[in-house]
Amino acid sequence: MVCGFPENFLWGAASAANQVEGGWDEGGKGISVSDCAKSHFHTDLSDYKKQNEVTLDDIRTAMASSDEHAYPKRHGSDFYHHYKEDIALMADMGLRVFRMSIAWSRIYPHGDDEQPNEAGLQYYDSVFDELRKHNIEPLVTISHYEPPIDLLLKYRGWYSRKTIELFERYVRTIVDRYKNKVKYWITFNEIDSMERHPYTTGGFLKEQFDDLDFHTVIAQAMHHQFVASALAVKICHEMIPGAQVGCMLTKLTYYPYSCKPEDALQAQQEMRRIYAFSDTQVFGEYPAYLLNHWKKDSIEVSMTTEDLLLMKQNPVDFVSFSYYTSSCCAKDPQGLPHAPGNTITAVKNPYLASNDWGWQIDALGLRISLVDLYDRYHKPLFIVENGIGANDLLIDGKVHDPYRIDYYREHINAMRDAIVEDSVDLIGYTCWSFIDLVSESTKQMSKRYGLVYVDCDDYGNGTYNRYKKDSFYWYKKVIATNGEDLS
Ligand code: BG6
Repeated sequence: MVCGFPENFLWGAASAANQVEGGWDEGGKGISVSDCAKSHFHTDLSDYKKQNEVTLDDIRTAMASSDEHAYPKRHGSDFYHHYKEDIALMADMGLRVFRMSIAWSRIYPHGDDEQPNEAGLQYYDSVFDELRKHNIEPLVTISHYEPPIDLLLKYRGWYSRKTIELFERYVRTIVDRYKNKVKYWITFNEIDSMERHPYTTGGFLKEQFDDLDFHTVIAQAMHHQFVASALAVKICHEMIPGAQVGCMLTKLTYYPYSCKPEDALQAQQEMRRIYAFSDTQVFGEYPAYLLNHWKKDSIEVSMTTEDLLLMKQNPVDFVSFSYYTSSCCAKDPQGLPHAPGNTITAVKNPYLASNDWGWQIDALGLRISLVDLYDRYHKPLFIVENGIGANDLLIDGKVHDPYRIDYYREHINAMRDAIVEDSVDLIGYTCWSFIDLVSESTKQMSKRYGLVYVDCDDYGNGTYNRYKKDSFYWYKKVIATNGEDLS
C-alpha cells in the first residue's frame, strides 16, 4: 500500500532556454524563432493568436535589429550569466531535478552548420557540471520553441524533410557530448502545439505556403517531428545506458459543459486531438482515428515504411506533460462565456476561480488528467510544468505570494491522491518555474511564475537581482519532507 510520494520522487522546477537564458547574441549563438518574437503588450493579452502573429517582414525587421526591449526573449532572466547563482539557489531549495532546454541555435547557430559551436557546447557543460556539483539531476528538453530562424527562412522549418536530418545532427552532437551528464531527456516540448502555434513549434509561417493547404502542411510537419522524436529516442538509448526519454504534451483537460451527450462527445473529441500526439509516441504508430481524420479531410502525408518502422521501434519511456488549467466543451458554444487557457480560448467553467490572466484554476483536473493518462498508457508519468502566472510585488526585498502557495498545495495534494488512491505511477514534478521568466504567450516578465523573483520589467529594465519569494521557502519544506508537510 502506497502511503505518499515514493522515496525517490523527483521534486524539481522547470525552465526553457528561450524564456530564461538571454545572451541571445553571445557565445556564437544564432538567432532562433523566439528571438524574433516581438512583444505585443498593447494588444489583447487574452488573445493568444494575436500575441503570436508574426510575418516574414516582422522576421526581417527583427533580424536587422539588436533591440532587446521589443524582443523580450532576447534578455529572458539572464540565466546565461547568472546560472551559478541560480543553481546555488536551487541547491538551497533542495531541488532534486531541474528541467531546462538546450537552445538549438547555441549549438548549431544556423541549424545547418557543418560543425557545432564549441562555445555553446561548453556553456551547457558548465551548467550540467554546476548542477552535478549540487546533486541536481538535469532533465533536458531537446527542442522547446527554439528552432534556428534560418531553418524557417531556408527550409520552411519542420515542413521540410531536410530538418529531420539537421535535427539528427544536433541530437547526435548533444547526446554524445553530454552522455555522462544527462540521463533524462524530453524530445519536443508540447509537440501538439504544432497545430496552435506553428511558428514557434514548427518553425514556419502560413504565408510561406500560398500554394498548399495549410492543414496538410501542419500534418506533414507533425510527421517529420514524430520521425525526429523517434530518432532522438533511438540515439539516446544507443548512446546512454539507462537513458529515459519522454514525450511531452500540453495537457488540455476538457469537461463537457453540460451532461448532454452531445457536449460529452465534443469534450472527448477535443481530448483526442491532444492524445493523438501521445498515442503516436507511446504506441509507436498513428492511431486509426488520426489516419481517418486525415483521410476524411483529404490530407495526404508523405511518409516512408522506414519512417513507420522507426516510430514503431522507438516508443518513449515516459509521458510528460504541462498542466495549468482546464476548460469546458459544448456542442453549441455560441453565447456561452469563454475563458483563455494555455494557447486556447474555450468555454468557461462556472465553478472555478481564475488567475490574473483569466486561466481557470483546477487542481482536481490534474488528478483526473493523471488517471486518464495512466489508464491509457500504463507508462510512468512526469509533470514537467505546473504553476500560476501572477502579478507579484517586490517590497523591501520580499515577495508575499500566498496565492502561489495555495495553487501548489492544492495541485500537490491532487498528485498525492492520484498516487495513493488511484495507483498512478508518477515519477516526478517540476513546477513552472524556478525563477521568473518571459511568458511564452504574452512575452511579459510581469506574468510571473517563479519561486524566485527576478528584478526585471516587461521591457528588460532592472537589476536582474534575484529574491526568494515566500513560495520558495514553502516548496523547500515540501521537498525536505517528501511532500508530507504542505502546511
Ligand atoms: C507551456 C509552455 O505551454 O506553458 C511554456 O511550455 C510556457 O513555455 C507555459 O511558458 C506557460 O504559458 P505562458 O504563456 O503563460 O508563458
